[in-house]
Amino acid sequence: MTEALGFFQAWLKSPLRVAAIAPSGRALSSLITSEISHDTGPVIELGPGSGSFTRALIAGGVRQEDLALIEFGSEFAAALHFRYPQARTLWMDATRLRTVDLFDGRLAGAVVSGLPLLSMPPRKIIAILAGAFRKMRVDGAFYQFTYGPSCPVPRRLLDRLGLEAERIGGTLANIPPAAVYRLRRRAPETGL
Ligand SMILES: C[S@@+](CC[C@H](N)C(=O)[O-])C[C@H]1O[C@@H](n2cnc3c(N)ncnc32)[C@H](O)[C@@H]1O
Repeated sequence: MTEALGFFQAWLKSPLRVAAIAPSGRALSSLITSEISHDTGPVIELGPGSGSFTRALIAGGVRQEDLALIEFGSEFAAALHFRYPQARTLWMDATRLRTVDLFDGRLAGAVVSGLPLLSMPPRKIIAILAGAFRKMRVDGAFYQFTYGPSCPVPRRLLDRLGLEAERIGGTLANIPPAAVYRLRRRAPETGL
């Protein structure tokens, strides 16, 4: 069974959770991982699915041991565990991120998210982002892709969490075309 067919079958079973009929293509995978390398240290991937971004992360120098893969679909989680035995694959809901120790207490340098945030209620998005930033260093960044025309995290949620979002690029070479946003903690005000 090809990766694309397996992905499509997962979507047929759970269209809301999978939220795409095909895995992300190479252009989007390169874009969302473009600022991440071996030097980033531990990386958390949320909703890796069939592993398009995981492959790009490893190709970009991230060691399997420095990867935590958080996936709610049992079909995807089992395949990821088999393919990346040295990565930490957790079959769980990303909203519970704050409850797990991923890298023996070390903090991550980045989070890469393939989660369908646009179809999630605000309380779920808050739990995911609060958990992710709790697991990251202060200079850590959260990368999220979207098929929509703007950042998939509404402005009022960014304000509430003290985050800022920047679009780092977009690609038409994906089905459908997609853009990537980088979320970071806002710099503290200096009062000057
Ligand atoms: C749009 S697909 C993206 C898959 C892959 N990253 C890609 O770009 O090809 C969304 C993925 O998020 C997973 N997912 C959805 N909700 C989740 C949750 N609450 N916790 C963890 N994974 C979730 C789905 O099972 C699916 O693998």
